[in-house]
Amino acid sequence: MNPNRTRTLLAAAGAVTLCVVGLMAFADSSSRDAAKSASLSASPAQVKRGEYLVHNVVLCVDCHSPRSESGAFLPDRHLTGSVLPFGPIVPMPAWAPAAPLIAGLPAGWTEEQMVRFLKTGERPLGLPATRPPMPPYRLGQDDAEAITAYLRSLGSRAR
Ligand code: HEC
Repeated sequence: MNPNRTRTLLAAAGAVTLCVVGLMAFADSSSRDAAKSASLSASPAQVKRGEYLVHNVVLCVDCHSPRSESGAFLPDRHLTGSVLPFGPIVPMPAWAPAAPLIAGLPAGWTEEQMVRFLKTGERPLGLPATRPPMPPYRLGQDDAEAITAYLRSLGSRAR
């Protein structure tokens, strides 16, 4: 083969390879960006701490997780909302009989709104204060952020 022709062919093959590699790098970085914005800046350690708080300390699961007839949690349905298995022993007109889904955050809530709710008890979007027995928490910034990161990491499990 004519050496000039060989060189042209090699150059063309090189250009195609560069294009493919470039496209792959682009696709990879854009999917990474999507994943990043979906989970804000939550670190794995923060999500882990949130999980510990939710399941072992502030016990959101006690009210927000459904149980089987024997009273055991349904492990794959944590925080997807539940009718409360208990009620007040004195009349309480404002009592809420069910705790809603909070896995993946309540529909329409941003992470900032969730953090604020856990620090002040104030609901966003002009919603009235939650009724008992939802505790009006006054958590610190770090705990509120960790819990929010964990709830967010559960994605849109039941939606
Ligand atoms: C003692 C039971 C109980 C515990 C513990 C509890 N909740 Fe609730 N929660 C409720 C009830 C009941 C409601 C519904 C209140 C209403 O309808 O006014 C509620 C409402 C909420 C809402 C409002 C949802 C919306 O769509 O407006 C959020 C968010 C929430 N809880 C998050 C949490 C988190 C996070 C924890 C743990 C840090 C937690 N709750 C612990 C019972 C509880």
